[in-house]
Amino acid sequence: MDRLDFAIKLARRVGFYLLQHWGNALNVKEKSSFQDIVSDCDKHAQQMILSEIERHFPKEAVLAEEDHFETGQKLWIVDPIDGTMNFVHGLPSFAVGIAYSEGGNILLGVVHDPVLNETFYAVRNGGAYKNGERISVSEKTTLKESIGNVGFYVGFTGHFINAIEKHVRRMRMVGSAVLAASYVACGRFDFFVAKRANPWDVAPVLLIVPEAGGCVSDLQGRPANLSSGEYLFSNGKVHSSVLKIIEKVAKT
Ligand code: IPD
Ligand code: CA
Ligand code: CA
Ligand code: CA
Repeated sequence: MDRLDFAIKLARRVGFYLLQHWGNALNVKEKSSFQDIVSDCDKHAQQMILSEIERHFPKEAVLAEEDHFETGQKLWIVDPIDGTMNFVHGLPSFAVGIAYSEGGNILLGVVHDPVLNETFYAVRNGGAYKNGERISVSEKTTLKESIGNVGFYVGFTGHFINAIEKHVRRMRMVGSAVLAASYVACGRFDFFVAKRANPWDVAPVLLIVPEAGGCVSDLQGRPANLSSGEYLFSNGKVHSSVLKIIEKVAKT
């Protein structure tokens, strides 16, 4: 079975399920703290994905956010809802993320936003796509013409916005890491900064952004991998300008 076709159809099926509960999530609870919530929809969506992978690829391992932490040479990496806070509050900007890796190399990434019905995807060396159309990063070369996104990270976001606000056209916080990075891939954003990200928050976009001609590094500018934990995604052209600002923030 073609893995890309499988992952796209599965992400869209799960997205359809999520739309039925959007803004009306089942059994919402605090997870690690009052700032971190989970619902039975996260768990059910994850179960839909796990059972299909088990049916079609029974020998392969799955690392998924809601307490399913396998390892393996052939590994699927799954975030059933990226942007649970938006999903629970009836806000747009949440997505299903599915990636497939071999030996730590991501070979396929799919991000599906059910609200806008947009599916972003890439296979290694095959370019990046949105709903069948090739996508690429923006051509912006300066921060003053750039629009960027940063996640909500206590102790970082405020300092970062303070440092960058005078240099950029606008900042945004969409609330889903995979969507923010997919928006870099298709040129809507010029950069996106993520701190404290888990592998499932970034796995598909670690492939989609470079396949769209963009750049991803850690916040020191080193090559990024699944366990870097913090990331700068950009169109490549404004990468070093954003890194300089992050460096200044780190020194304060
Ligand atoms: C979260 C979202 C959010 C980011 C958090 C993630 P979740 O994922 O991607 O944008 O700021 O760090 O944990 O919990 O909604 O899957
Ligand atoms: Ca979560
Ligand atoms: Ca996530
Ligand atoms: Ca999640």
